[in-house]
Amino acid sequence: MAVGPRATIGVFDSGVGGVSVLRELRGLLAGERLVYIADSAHVPYGTKPHAFIQDRSTTLSRLLIEQYGAAVVLVACNTATTHAVDHLRQTFPLVPFVGMEPGIKPAAAATRSGVVGVLATSATLAGGRFASLVQRTAEGVDVLTQACVGLVEQVEAGDLDGPKTRAILERCLHPMLSRGADTIVLGCTHYPFLRPTIQAMVGPDVTLVDTAGAVARQTLRLLGVPDGDSREGVGTHGPVQFLTSGEPEVVRDVLERLWGEAVPDVGRIAP
Ligand code: DGL
Repeated sequence: MAVGPRATIGVFDSGVGGVSVLRELRGLLAGERLVYIADSAHVPYGTKPHAFIQDRSTTLSRLLIEQYGAAVVLVACNTATTHAVDHLRQTFPLVPFVGMEPGIKPAAAATRSGVVGVLATSATLAGGRFASLVQRTAEGVDVLTQACVGLVEQVEAGDLDGPKTRAILERCLHPMLSRGADTIVLGCTHYPFLRPTIQAMVGPDVTLVDTAGAVARQTLRLLGVPDGDSREGVGTHGPVQFLTSGEPEVVRDVLERLWGEAVPDVGRIAP
């Protein structure tokens, strides 16, 4: 499916985490419009049951497609992908969906010690999809997982390197580092915002892996844009509309900081 430069890309996450993918997408666009929903009234997803995550993902996708005209939907959330992307593809068969999975494959290729650590939400790690991903892509590699309870809330609060954020990270990182992990997967879209803090804690010899860039490129491919795109105006996005089910003013502050551009207005959707 080839679509014009003003196509709308719909993106959602439980909160502001998906902006880490939006940042990567930004540089690849040539005028496409972006609509981003932060489901802040329900963040975090990572401790919620399967049916709840699937229901919210369906509601948000319907909104993006039917009210905002999204030509493609980017599920900028590992947790929602695990629990909902198959259902979304069945429910909206005419719209391509891009999902996110922890970068186990690139991490397995990068490790020298043969030990890879994965930071993600409880719901991502508990899904059968994660077990199958490890089985398919990390043969012979020791994959150590850690559910980082409370970390998403820290990013939502804009606390990227304070004492509480560091304490949660310390608790999550220590067990994998002490068992020899030299490569750590940031398996939740909120975590790339913590990359400088994490890198400083683990040191320069540990490789951090996230899939935001690869997922952004895949989104463009699904829009019919070839790899190595040289369209006129690459690097300029069209209008960006931010929406939230939470408090627009609160969300706007943190969005602006993470997106790095002025966000004049955040719209409100029903919680
Ligand atoms: N950012 C999401 C993810 O990639 C969800 C985090 C959460 O709400 O628990 O998993």
